[in-house]
Amino acid sequence: MRNPLTAGRAPLTIALTLACSVCVALGAQQAGGRGGDAAPAAAPAKPLIPVATNTVATHPETYYGERVTMTAAVQSILSKSAFSVAQKAFGDAAKTTTNPDVLILAPKLQAPVPANAYLTVFGEVVKFDPDEIAKKAKDYTLDLPPDVVEKYRGRPALIATAVINESFLDLTWRMPPPATPDEEALSKLMKKVQPAFGALRGSIDGSNVDVTKQNAAILKQAFTETEAIWKTRGKTEPMTWAAEARKNAEAIETAAATGKWDAAKTAAGPLGQSCAQCHAAYRERFDDGSYRIKTSK
Ligand code: HEC
Repeated sequence: MRNPLTAGRAPLTIALTLACSVCVALGAQQAGGRGGDAAPAAAPAKPLIPVATNTVATHPETYYGERVTMTAAVQSILSKSAFSVAQKAFGDAAKTTTNPDVLILAPKLQAPVPANAYLTVFGEVVKFDPDEIAKKAKDYTLDLPPDVVEKYRGRPALIATAVINESFLDLTWRMPPPATPDEEALSKLMKKVQPAFGALRGSIDGSNVDVTKQNAAILKQAFTETEAIWKTRGKTEPMTWAAEARKNAEAIETAAATGKWDAAKTAAGPLGQSCAQCHAAYRERFDDGSYRIKTSK
């Protein structure tokens, strides 16, 4: 079966991204917010406590309100965003022992978890009750059937912020769709634009004519092509912004050639603003750090 999370990505990239996903997840937990949201430095986040599902199931009161990590096997898949995990019993114990399962609610889960997968989940332990969940996870709609709600009511559950699989992939990550030819072309252009713009700012500050002209020329060309891409997509607004960026690059080129460094600086300001303006409206970032054209526009 095609796994949308891994399709088209080299294993090494996955491993690297994964390792990073764990540290990002950890970092975010420590920072008290996912993805470093600029939430004001509130009370320092509680450390994550590694704990076994059996311990949480038998001593839930100790863990309510705590942020924990649990590594366990998927026991049952309950909905698109909910499943339960339990400790695996091995050898003879497997024949006689049934370990209690713990309900995992993962509001950001991108696809149901694989059956029997061995997962590491991060999140806060709560006493399961639909009202409590509604308070704790405001954007989340509990999608459990009533009998399942009754089965877990009053028992410990985890509201998961990360669900890491055996390949260290975070299953709550929103991964990008394959890039379209347009997006590939735009991405290549932008990867030229970025260093050229950096170098340009430095060379304007240092009044370096050759380096300024050289990088202004790269930007002119790149924004001409950027404009053409938006033209084929029929989007006037970003076309205009790309054209303005090109004109500012041109103005910088001319100013540098005639030693008018103040004029060059004046044009560099709006050039930088056009990056931010267009990105805010037309660029979308995915959890693996890649970008695509924002299609909701
Ligand atoms: C007219 C719109 C527009 C302007 C102006 C613009 N960008 Fe972009 N940029 C985009 C879009 C859309 C993407 C996402 C597309 C992609 O990367 O596939 C993007 C992506 C990027 C990326 C990520 C590339 C990648 O794929 O990793 C960088 C870096 C970047 N832009 C830098 C800049 C800088 C620096 C400027 C200004 C000097 C700038 N951009 C101006 C639209 C624009």
